[in-house]
Amino acid sequence: MNSESSILLFSGKSNPGLASEVAKDLKIPLGKVELTKFADGETYVNYGETLRGRDVYIMQSTCNPQNDNLMEMLIMVDAAKRAAAQRITCVIPYYGYAKQDRKAHDREPITAKLIAKLIQSAGADAVLTMDLHADQIQGFFDIRADFLYASGVLTKYFLQKDLKDIMVVAPDVGSTKRARKYAKILGSDLAIIDKRRPKPNVSEVVNLIGDVSGKVCLIVDDEINTGGTIVNAAEALIKKGAKEVYVMASHAVFAGEAIGKIEKSSIKEIIVTNSIPARSESRKIKVVSVARLFADAIRCMHTNKSLSELLGR
Ligand code: R5P
Repeated sequence: MNSESSILLFSGKSNPGLASEVAKDLKIPLGKVELTKFADGETYVNYGETLRGRDVYIMQSTCNPQNDNLMEMLIMVDAAKRAAAQRITCVIPYYGYAKQDRKAHDREPITAKLIAKLIQSAGADAVLTMDLHADQIQGFFDIRADFLYASGVLTKYFLQKDLKDIMVVAPDVGSTKRARKYAKILGSDLAIIDKRRPKPNVSEVVNLIGDVSGKVCLIVDDEINTGGTIVNAAEALIKKGAKEVYVMASHAVFAGEAIGKIEKSSIKEIIVTNSIPARSESRKIKVVSVARLFADAIRCMHTNKSLSELLGR
């Protein structure tokens, strides 16, 4: 498995744009696969070319509609296994259900682990994903798994902007480690917001650690879901004297009224990746591509080269 021509890359229905960009970067055509539904709603997969002995990559973000996208990917893996692929890698730019990674209350599931087990049981040999909600999810995989970070792509945008007096802000204590990494790349100080969630999908800023007055604040988060976290954080920062607020986030989930909330907020600009197909109906939202990152990672996996340099480690 050492010539790029023996890579086969197939796209599920979730993010064909990103898959096409990755295929272009790899200088291969996207693999032929029929993805349809029977009249009763069941998913049907049929590969249009031989997979026998090939290094197969199946690209699917398990974003909304999560269950359909997940099931489609699992069925694609099953079909690839039965078609005698030599190695099957699930390339999952956005790993859905990742927030359900522990039991926060009694009688709850750990769905992030369940998904990892399903992928493995379906017959995948490896997983390639990016910016998991929490790094500990890595331990849910018992097959080979590689983890990418969008930090290089997102910070590049701000390095080019050459903003002065910047302060990276972690929007909750859980994202401090991630934000510290961004602060190091951008050469800035770090502020931390103490966020509480009184109930699901509702967030409140309780406290701010750090002096942001006169600063250009860059909030770093793994995903923007309802938008509550970043919008509340931005308001709190402006109240504390921040000059401007920007946001960097790996995954643009944008559920419900998120975009409307962002439009009305004091956030100046939001930079997200295309791990989920862009819904950039707002002029405040800029999308940067992670296609090169994934193409490089696939090249490394295919040729058994180290990913460390790629990951800046
Ligand atoms: C929370 O732990 C995550 O890192 C994000 O801050 C959260 O998922 C964002 O959700 P929302 O946009 O709904 O506040």
